[in-house]
Amino acid sequence: MPSPAQPAAPAPRRFEIVRTVAALRAAVAGWRAAGERVGFIPTMGALHAGHVSLLRESQRLCQRHVVSIFVNPTQFSPNEDFAAYPRDEGHDADLLRQSGADLLFAPAVAEMYPAGFRTRVTVDGLTQYLCGASRPGHFAGVATVVTKLLLQGLPDVAFFGEKDFQQLQVIRRLVRDLDIPVAITGVATMREADGLALSSRNRFLSPAERQTAARFPVRLRLAAAQLAQGADIARTLADLRAALAVDGITAVDYLALCDEETLTPIMDKQEGRSLSGTRLFAAIHIGRTRLIDNWKVA
Ligand code: PAF
Repeated sequence: MPSPAQPAAPAPRRFEIVRTVAALRAAVAGWRAAGERVGFIPTMGALHAGHVSLLRESQRLCQRHVVSIFVNPTQFSPNEDFAAYPRDEGHDADLLRQSGADLLFAPAVAEMYPAGFRTRVTVDGLTQYLCGASRPGHFAGVATVVTKLLLQGLPDVAFFGEKDFQQLQVIRRLVRDLDIPVAITGVATMREADGLALSSRNRFLSPAERQTAARFPVRLRLAAAQLAQGADIARTLADLRAALAVDGITAVDYLALCDEETLTPIMDKQEGRSLSGTRLFAAIHIGRTRLIDNWKVA
């Protein structure tokens, strides 16, 4: 019997799957009322070690860990891979259970977008470049669903990967602008041994395409190092494009050096502009698979 002076033992961890906003809200509110910090990791499933690294960060900072899996239709345009996007809730739930998550929120489309849904969240400026330019409507879909998820759960902290750096900045902006009381934490990109950034879409690559894909981070890292050493920006981007082509990567969506905060492309070194706080961003297609990555320059 614990003596009255001993603190109550924390409730044992029990992994649960919920599908309604009401159940999510009740679980998170209960933990927070008991003084536990709640971390939240929004995902679209097809979980891999990169997602687990977000969970590990939550485990460092919080006591309870919620992961959502929702393949959000509003962030895919009609010609994109919404239907083909990998879905395997059984695998994902097992991985989360083994990795120490407390709750999986896996709503149906009708729970997130009930009949009559008419609201969209858009973030200006940051979304006009990079993936925002090549995937019109994508960030409105992301911003809308993330706003909903954060308000539904009201966790203490939400975790997003830096691989989707533009998405991370868009989410930071909307949370500030809409006074959503959730701290946003970015987590460094997790990579395969050969440097390829982990992504749910990597599984679409054939073995030959996977070999080609390994050249992408190598070339990007080299170009970022050259820029950091003062190489001419336009020349370096042109050389990067040519080097990717030599490696068999000819379908380049964008290559851009951007300011990390505003995501504004930097075309040349204006007087006095240091490259501190800049990143090199790239999106390519290998076969039918679109890959993105970014590398901090300085
Ligand atoms: O990065 C993702 O998996 C998605 O864009 C997100 C943030 C879960 C919104 O659907």
